[in-house]
Amino acid sequence: MGVLGVVTALASTTPAGAAASTLGAAAAQSGRYFGTAIAAGHMNDSTYVATWDREFNAVTPENEMKWDATEPNRGQFTFGGADQIVSHAQSHGMKIRGHTLVWHAQIPSWLNNLSTSDLRTAMVNHINGVMGHYKGKIYAWDVVNEAFADGGSVGSLRSSIWTQKLGNGFIEEAFRAARAADPNAKLCYNDYNIDDANANKTRGVYNMVKDFKARGVPIDCVGLQSHFGNPPSNYQQNIAQFAALGVDVQITELDVGGSGSTQADAYRRVVEACTAVPRCAGITVWGITDKYSWRSGDTPLLFDGNFNKKAAYTSVLNALNAATPNPTP
Ligand code: XIL
Repeated sequence: MGVLGVVTALASTTPAGAAASTLGAAAAQSGRYFGTAIAAGHMNDSTYVATWDREFNAVTPENEMKWDATEPNRGQFTFGGADQIVSHAQSHGMKIRGHTLVWHAQIPSWLNNLSTSDLRTAMVNHINGVMGHYKGKIYAWDVVNEAFADGGSVGSLRSSIWTQKLGNGFIEEAFRAARAADPNAKLCYNDYNIDDANANKTRGVYNMVKDFKARGVPIDCVGLQSHFGNPPSNYQQNIAQFAALGVDVQITELDVGGSGSTQADAYRRVVEACTAVPRCAGITVWGITDKYSWRSGDTPLLFDGNFNKKAAYTSVLNALNAATPNPTP
């Protein structure tokens, strides 16, 4: 290694005990990643891209891998926006989360009037088409998104074309197809309002994961979207209970409405909960700047509309730096 190489190597690693100065580097010290959702449509904003590159070492395309974007017409796959994000991420050595293969929302209308067997064929073909295109490039896929019902009894699923035509077994079918399509990607079930350890919706997902593990249905991770105002007091216990089933937990779409020290405190508790559990593999915030957030009225992110670091940024950075190293799952 030449002198330049030595300097680069030293600059890119943080000595044990020293504080890192970016979110990604701070997370890496305990073997984790810190990612953000990215929208291809904002990649012409140079401050947006510079902040992404500086602070984050993982990415989730915000909308570009969804069904309506990737297969707007049956059998015709389009990957323009998603490819833009993926190639940028790859050239910067970032982990990529694929989001999402089977969901009730942001789906094209051609799915609506298919027969049961035709819908099943379409689902498997979509999983093969999208996962095949990105085979070997994706760290983890959200195979099924938001399948469980809000406010129902334990285990009740949301009514959708999937439950109506394929029945509750569609989740298992999707995971089996996904494992075959890219055996090296981690396969996640992703949902919101499964943050409270004892909520009915959480219990339903917990029971499903336990059942999948018992029967050998492939599943590797649970994604806690974590769109909230406050993490529940048993959030860490919840992460730990999923991890104890033998899956990773990923915080996949974190954003916390609020401002100032209240918001900073909520973010700190999320990071502390994740870093306390060895199988909590990483955290993704659902965007960089409040101005591009899907819930911008709640100013839920770590950078304000001018890309200034908020109090929440500092508390996240400090909490990541305070984490004790965990063995990587
Ligand atoms: C949101 C995007 O942020 C918006 O741009 C889009 O209009 C709607 O979807 N749960 C999910 C994400 O799994 O895909 C959603 O993303 C937010 C809620």
